[in-house]
Amino acid sequence: MQEYSDRMRRLDKTIAFVPTMGYLHEGHLSLIREGGKIGDCLVVSIFVNPVQFAPGEDFENYPRDLERDLELARKNGADVVFTPDDKKLYSNGFQTYVNLKELPNHLCGISRPIFFSGVATVVTKLFNIVKPHFAIFGQKDYQQLVIIRQMVCDLNFDIEIIGAETVREYDGLAMSSRNVYLTSGQRNSALCLYKSLQKAQAFLSSGINDSEKIIDSASEIIKSGTNTKIDYIAICDPKTLIDMKKIDRQALMALAVKVGKTRLIDNTILNP
Ligand code: PAJ
Repeated sequence: MQEYSDRMRRLDKTIAFVPTMGYLHEGHLSLIREGGKIGDCLVVSIFVNPVQFAPGEDFENYPRDLERDLELARKNGADVVFTPDDKKLYSNGFQTYVNLKELPNHLCGISRPIFFSGVATVVTKLFNIVKPHFAIFGQKDYQQLVIIRQMVCDLNFDIEIIGAETVREYDGLAMSSRNVYLTSGQRNSALCLYKSLQKAQAFLSSGINDSEKIIDSASEIIKSGTNTKIDYIAICDPKTLIDMKKIDRQALMALAVKVGKTRLIDNTILNP
């Protein structure tokens, strides 16, 4: 992989990069197509990163279908699909991790305390191997995007980070590889995430800008879905992720909800 990237760089070609954990869906593919427009060559990685899963999470069961992914990546413009294996990326004695001080102490980082360390570490490794000029991440994982931007700035990576919009199913459910875990009843119930975000924007447009009120209404919508359990619902500053009491400027509303055993996340930018 490094030799390929060195060769492209010597030829003055720019490299766009889309890191994924595979089981590609339309959300990933939109990033891949975007990458194809931005760089002279496009690298997609598929790697289910063990260090971002805590014991008891779904690392072993995470959906995988490499053959299908390779076909989809190729059809959507990938020049190279990089599929490292665990043993090579994390050899015996591996001991260097990338940790951010503040940004992981919010939202998903609270219930998944090792998650962002695992993400920042693997993305650093992938950046050093793929050597991209551009890397594309989805806003669906908003906190991840903010963390990667911060890390790139703090560690002086010479890489431009591009955020891409969340791709949704016809009815609004954010696409996710984990949606395959949902039964059809749970799939219906999962719509409450999107509905609660829409309701929040409607509240705000009607002049209600008190975060607590908006979160209460979102919470009611989610509790009315069957088999749902709220992890968090937050309204916060889109850069620092610090809670906002009043929405007097642009805010990020983010939530994580368990539907059955499947943890789903979604978010939207609220504009007063
Ligand atoms: P994964 O969940 O496979 O997502 C790969 C990329 O696709 C991420 O940038 C994610 O934000 C984006 N994505 C997922 N669903 C999307 C949707 N519905 N619309 C738009 N983009 C979407 O995120 C990871 O993998 C990993 O943490 C990774 C960054 C690869 C590190 O292991």
